[in-house]
Amino acid sequence: MNMPLPAAVQQTLEQALDDTRHIEVLPQSAHIGALITGVDLRRPLQPAEVATIRAALLRWKVVFFRDQPLEHAQHIAFARQFGDPTLGHPVFGHVEGHPELYSIAKHRTANSHQGQAEQRPWSGWHADVTAAHNPPCASILRGVTIPPYGGDTQWTNLAAAFAALSEPLKGFLQTLRGEHRFSPPAGAQASEAYQRAVRSHELVSEHPLVTVHPETGEQVLYISPGFLKRIVGLHARESRVLLEFLWEHAVRSEFTVRFKWEPGSLAFWDNRATAHVAPNDIFALDFDRQLYRVTLVGEVPVGTDGRASTAISGDPVLAAHGAAY
Ligand SMILES: [Fe+2]
Repeated sequence: MNMPLPAAVQQTLEQALDDTRHIEVLPQSAHIGALITGVDLRRPLQPAEVATIRAALLRWKVVFFRDQPLEHAQHIAFARQFGDPTLGHPVFGHVEGHPELYSIAKHRTANSHQGQAEQRPWSGWHADVTAAHNPPCASILRGVTIPPYGGDTQWTNLAAAFAALSEPLKGFLQTLRGEHRFSPPAGAQASEAYQRAVRSHELVSEHPLVTVHPETGEQVLYISPGFLKRIVGLHARESRVLLEFLWEHAVRSEFTVRFKWEPGSLAFWDNRATAHVAPNDIFALDFDRQLYRVTLVGEVPVGTDGRASTAISGDPVLAAHGAAY
């Protein structure tokens, strides 16, 4: 069920592989995930290395690196070679002194714009910040404090998930748009401080339910269960039942890959073609976990009918440089 790659992407991948013999791209499953070895991310990359990583990212949707003990500044410098880093997080702020960096701790106490935000009240499948008009195109997550077991991350390939649907259903989904909102899901335990932080940065956008990937041309089932609240124009029950089906379909095990973190591991994913989840088992364990994330400024998504997403509330996600912080 592998989808044919656009010739240009395939060509770049082959050419880049030719130029950088030391780099290896080792796929981790049929549809998603590749481990990249033979490159040191602490130093500036050669153009052929950047091209190899970029092509592998487009093909495999998430790429992993091991044994890369990066400092904050090196993490940000690595990210800059692939795009413009955003401010850490539009609602929860950034790491002191590093506007591009967002702290993902087991118990979140990251600075919000208004002070301290509370720990994460839920964890579910999502793509990063899809409530924004222009969600980040990619996220780069670095593991620092890692438990000996538990606390993995999973990703799913939303282009492969869309390709596996029947033609009549694909056609119907292509006509639909979804409302993405930054808010805790119904029933989630969110503290007053957390809800205050969310309320003061209301972020709502309408995105096509099926987007066209701006680089590969693939059609993507653009669902982000944590943010997608309803399908526009459907009755409430129709929307709920259809979304439940799509969410279950999109995370079928064959579309997913699971990554076991080590200190110095890095995961770099295409946020336009994947969703991810941090399984909640970390909260059943006493171990701590600390990761840091940089996201890259993304484009406004466009549907298969050529219609772009619409901003309903909130600001676009801007580059960290030049932004007021
Ligand atoms: Fe995330």
